Amino acid sequence: MCGIVGYIGNEQAAPIILEGLSKLEYRGYDSAGIAVRDSNSDIEIVKAKGRLKALSDKTNEGQTLIGNCGIGHTRWATHGEPSEENAHPHCSDDCCVVAVHNGIIENYQELKEKLHKNGYSFYSGTDTEVAVKLIDYYYKKYFGNPVDAINRSMVRIRGSYALAVMFKDNPGEIYVARKDSPMILGLENEDAYFASDVPAILKYTRNVYYIGNLEIGKLQKGKLTFYNIDGDEIQKEATEIQWDMDAAEKSGFEHFMIKEIHEQPKAVSDTLNSVVSNGRINLTNIGLTDDEIKNISEIHIVACGSAYHVGVAAQYVIEDLARIPVRVELASEFRYRRPIIDKNGLVIIISQSGETADSLAALREAKSMGIRTLAIVNVVGSSIAREADKVLYTLAGPEIAVATTKAYSAQLIISYVLAIQFALVWNKIDEKTYKSLITELGTLPDKINRLLEDKERIQWFATKFSNSKDIFFIGRGIDYAISLEGSLKMKEISYIHSEAYAAGELKHGTISLVEDGTLVIGVLTQEELYEKTISNMIEVKSRGAYLMGLTNSGNYNIEDTADFVTYIPKTDKHFTTSLAVVPLQLMGYYISVARGLDVDKPRNLAKSVTVE
Ligand code: G6P
Repeated sequence: MCGIVGYIGNEQAAPIILEGLSKLEYRGYDSAGIAVRDSNSDIEIVKAKGRLKALSDKTNEGQTLIGNCGIGHTRWATHGEPSEENAHPHCSDDCCVVAVHNGIIENYQELKEKLHKNGYSFYSGTDTEVAVKLIDYYYKKYFGNPVDAINRSMVRIRGSYALAVMFKDNPGEIYVARKDSPMILGLENEDAYFASDVPAILKYTRNVYYIGNLEIGKLQKGKLTFYNIDGDEIQKEATEIQWDMDAAEKSGFEHFMIKEIHEQPKAVSDTLNSVVSNGRINLTNIGLTDDEIKNISEIHIVACGSAYHVGVAAQYVIEDLARIPVRVELASEFRYRRPIIDKNGLVIIISQSGETADSLAALREAKSMGIRTLAIVNVVGSSIAREADKVLYTLAGPEIAVATTKAYSAQLIISYVLAIQFALVWNKIDEKTYKSLITELGTLPDKINRLLEDKERIQWFATKFSNSKDIFFIGRGIDYAISLEGSLKMKEISYIHSEAYAAGELKHGTISLVEDGTLVIGVLTQEELYEKTISNMIEVKSRGAYLMGLTNSGNYNIEDTADFVTYIPKTDKHFTTSLAVVPLQLMGYYISVARGLDVDKPRNLAKSVTVE
């Protein structure tokens, strides 16, 4: 979850590293640090607690650090409180080895004891310091070969990591290694870069190399070399990143989140166009043939956070259209419960980053059982994308705000496409319905645009409720899936307690929390369920709730019950999540802004959770 960046080349390293880290602050922001050197100087380390700005101020935006080679880090604390001492980079006792790390070293206590016995002492509470000193130990024991020292350490370390290491005796070189934590390398003429995420180096290069688990990359001026765990040199091909550079900038918007909310029509249409041509869905380029689809007996969707909420919506849509049994599960549960899956089942992993530790572990669990896997991923070349049998990419572009919006919307589109194709292959819909569903999908970007045009009204309403203590979201069926995401958006960025409930379940406990003036948002986009949900809304209203209704245009009866209503354009009942989520994203956003909070970097959260 921490951000890592490094550079070696002809330019001064510190400003490039600080700029790169600023693009990764969404990965962690408890503290930051940097280590820089040039060919004839010692490695200089500067760290600061708090946001990256503190480090930037301390180094006069990097100007006080001289050298063409360096590594930087922005931290999301796991082991050891956020403090300057615990901030990275960490160094060995004689500063022979200096490193930054993302991930968790599970056996760090055991390794620490081993190192203690060999005369090492420790100044921080971090697992990273242990890794650095382990590398130092092997480096000295085996006569100063960096690749060898890192490889021997990797064999001893259990857990996940992306490491970047500088050795005092090897000026002009940086070594990186990874296991289950993201790390990319880039090369542009004489300049070599590495980072834990593409946006950090997108400004400088689009030529990116991926290293696999237990592999090492060596960066030198104008050169990258790769090694396997045996220390043998291996070859890698560059991948060209297609993302637009503006996508990693705010482009005039106040926050990344509101910018990304506005990018949803494009994310939806780009994603749709990648799998639909001439009015037909084409999944053959990912190798999902009709014969293979026919052979699928059940589907398990596994994901975390908002991606899990996509799975909840997809479950309703796929089961209703294709009549295939679907079970949706949290990855952190799936991986430990010894799941029972039919041998002809399909496990679908949904993940924006493609690096979420639990989702990756769930994918591996399914593969170890011999079950076919399909990943829906946004980040090209990420671990989940590489390890799944088949991948469908969402084309949302880089998503920077911690609270996901456009990636969520793009994931929904892919799940609709799968549902429609499965339904056709399974003869559950006819050709006419198939075509009309695809046509309807094509209208969603415009409809989302229409919702965005009405944002001032939501802003006004959100501001009115910005001091709420609790907010409840209720709905049935797909509306329950929408409520889950609306509630998550609300709580994660506004810090207001909120819950989503299946409307019929409210009276089994949660209704006791409703007081005079409590805001309850009823989601009603499923016509056959309108009346049922309205009755539940009346139940809370009679206990003093203030009611907001979110419903389809034309359902004007709701105005008899709700105090405030937002309408979404009409669409097929299976696709309403794509529209109804937009006002709810805006609600969360505007409440957070009204409360003066850091919308893009909510406390305690990270964009990509690469630890368990
Ligand atoms: C974090 C993010 C969420 C995201 C979840 C899953 O908690 O803050 O926005 O939904 O991880 O991430 P993934 O990258 O797997 O979609």
